[in-house]
Amino acid sequence: MMAPTTVLEYKHENASAQDVAQQIEQQIAQQVAQQIDPQLRTRFVEAMGLNATSVNVITTAGKSGRFGLTVSAFNSVSADPPTLLVCINRRSPACGAILRNEKFAVNILNRAQRHISDTFAGRPTCGEAFDFSCCEWADGITGIPVIKDAVASFECQVEAVHDIGSHTVFIGRAVAVEKSDQQPLMYSRRGYSHLSP
Ligand SMILES: Cc1cc2nc3c(=O)[nH]c(=O)nc-3n(C[C@H](O)[C@H](O)[C@H](O)COP(=O)(O)O)c2cc1C
Repeated sequence: MMAPTTVLEYKHENASAQDVAQQIEQQIAQQVAQQIDPQLRTRFVEAMGLNATSVNVITTAGKSGRFGLTVSAFNSVSADPPTLLVCINRRSPACGAILRNEKFAVNILNRAQRHISDTFAGRPTCGEAFDFSCCEWADGITGIPVIKDAVASFECQVEAVHDIGSHTVFIGRAVAVEKSDQQPLMYSRRGYSHLSP
């Protein structure tokens, strides 16, 4: 029987992004070598790719600057109080920025916003990667930019943080919510789609 996956240990404070990335890579390599069945990992990734999710851009702003990142790993946690979670790879600069800014927003993209997803996934169809000029923004009440015409936007204060494997799970307490009548962009089997009609 395999040993349970250990939570990676490193300190966010006082560590450079390069130090953190090296620590993570070393620890992940150790885990892969010691514990993770490569065939199971492949089946896990393939099966997760069959899931259909909304496409969401996480934004943050504050003392560590403004960042955006496309994520599928987003879900509701609780309505009492309004709480949600997102999972972000610690290699992404957005991860450290959210930790330091202590706030983030989730923007659920509409079906006409796949170019925004591509920009904040670092593979723009036009313009520069991660460039905020790819779309129109509104100022959220927390000072975080939120995407105009998104299906919904949730501004959150970071409530809790958990490092699991390669990712950090951010639990956010929603402090402001915007919603629209737009239809969501979907992602499954490595491609975009939308709900009919
Ligand atoms: C549809 C979609 C969903 C994604 N979901 C996540 C996610 O949940 N968490 C995450 O950290 N990165 C996610 N990514 C990846 C990031 O958006 C980004 O592409 C990646 O961090 C850039 O990696 P690179 O530096 O290797 O190019 C997703 C990308 C796409 C296109």
